[in-house]
Amino acid sequence: MNDTDRQAHWQNVYATKAEEEVSWFQENPAPSLDLIAATGISTGAAIIDVGGGASRLVDSLLEQGFHRLTILDLSAKALEAAKKRLGRPGEAVDRVVADVTSWKPSSTYDLWHDRATFHFLTKPTDRDAYVGCLMKAVRRGGHAIIATFAQDGPERCSGLPIVRYDPDGLASTLGPAFELAESRRHDHMTPGGNTQRFQFSRFLRS
Ligand SMILES: C[S@@+](CC[C@H](N)C(=O)[O-])C[C@H]1O[C@@H](n2cnc3c(N)ncnc32)[C@H](O)[C@@H]1O
Repeated sequence: MNDTDRQAHWQNVYATKAEEEVSWFQENPAPSLDLIAATGISTGAAIIDVGGGASRLVDSLLEQGFHRLTILDLSAKALEAAKKRLGRPGEAVDRVVADVTSWKPSSTYDLWHDRATFHFLTKPTDRDAYVGCLMKAVRRGGHAIIATFAQDGPERCSGLPIVRYDPDGLASTLGPAFELAESRRHDHMTPGGNTQRFQFSRFLRS
């Protein structure tokens, strides 16, 4: 899938489905919040949610007092939906419409969070570009939390093929600059009642 097709796919998803109708909808992003707490970062930390879409993670982080938040997504419609839902408190959230495989970060972050975005990169060149961006965007001593479908999870997401990972496989894809600190398995219940097995891994950037 090229960049234009990819953007068209995601714009169409968010144009035709309500936030709660997508399979990845999560009322409470508890697995992400637990791993973010485990990093020990303070509320002044700069956090980017890559492929954050219309996720409610940012709502919870704002409630906890985090105030340097960025959401990056290919779909402007997803970011608009998040903005509308958040209202005034969300005005402080930076929104970036970009493809992570070609985005050039202009500042660094203390924490990179990605739930169910990296796994769509089925081409090695796209994965290399993602890792290059991750290296530039996360400061040394910073953190990355990346959640993907697990090895025993589904083979497709949003109708697209994905790559499934276990934590060690993900660590070797990211390379030696990212040390695996911990990983957790999580069974996500979709709004349609299906279980999707995820792995959530937390990395420390050296
Ligand atoms: C399965 S959804 C997950 C959304 C969100 N992370 C969550 O947990 O609710 C994948 C998201 O990644 C975005 N996305 C897919 N490929 C992307 C890319 N190459 N660059 C940036 N965003 C991308 C999509 O627009 C979509 O919002």
